[in-house]
Amino acid sequence: MRKQIVAGNWKMNTTPEQGVVLVKEILKNLGQSCTTVNYIVCPPFTHLSEVAKVTRGTAVQVGAQNCADEAKGAYTGEVSAEMIASIGAQYVILGHSERRQYYGETSAKLVKRMALTYANGLMPIYCVGETLEERENGKLWDVVKAQIEEVVFTLSDEQFRHLVVAYEPVWAIGTGKVATADQAQEMHAFIRKVLISKFGEAAQKTPILYGGSVKADNAAEIFAKEDVDGGLIGGASLKAEDFLAIGNGFN
Ligand code: PGA
Repeated sequence: MRKQIVAGNWKMNTTPEQGVVLVKEILKNLGQSCTTVNYIVCPPFTHLSEVAKVTRGTAVQVGAQNCADEAKGAYTGEVSAEMIASIGAQYVILGHSERRQYYGETSAKLVKRMALTYANGLMPIYCVGETLEERENGKLWDVVKAQIEEVVFTLSDEQFRHLVVAYEPVWAIGTGKVATADQAQEMHAFIRKVLISKFGEAAQKTPILYGGSVKADNAAEIFAKEDVDGGLIGGASLKAEDFLAIGNGFN
């Protein structure tokens, strides 16, 4: 039995005040949702600390959307893994396609971020996924395999046990074009096979989340697939009701 996870990636949305209202709303209504689901919220840095305070001692965990690739020092504008851990967050999203696309995140940088994430006791939610062009050219398998090999294969067996992977086809993010449940399953099974080739049976326990236009009305079909262990949710994580309804997709 793998962990079931529904993680909300708030991206650059909500003010601190709105973020606190949102997380309080999630907490208030949590009782009516599926009890086996691990909910994680990933607010912007400005209110990570405040949201972590509100969720302390609750079933909702908190993650950052990124961390610096250096430990500390003269890196204007960056936020370190140590800072993120110190405010009580547990997770860090790494390698999101928006970071890879718009901020030039390379595998080499992600390897450094991974190492710092683990060094500070945080767990990465490592994102992989192909563009539409790569899918249409049949390159999707090579692209995703390389994203895993170049970064995840640098982990020790112990670190690997605390990894969460998110498969997010770039063409499905924020577009309303969700991958079919079969397309998701096909890639998730492939990812697990790649992970098993390096880490053996431990990879049977790795949660692999699907991300890209997941909503309450398509979550159940996708989550029903054998190798899909939950979702990384963008747009639909900004309304408590929608976010929690996605978790009910496991029922
Ligand atoms: P979306 O974003 O649910 O808005 O498509 C998913 C993500 O980028 O994590």
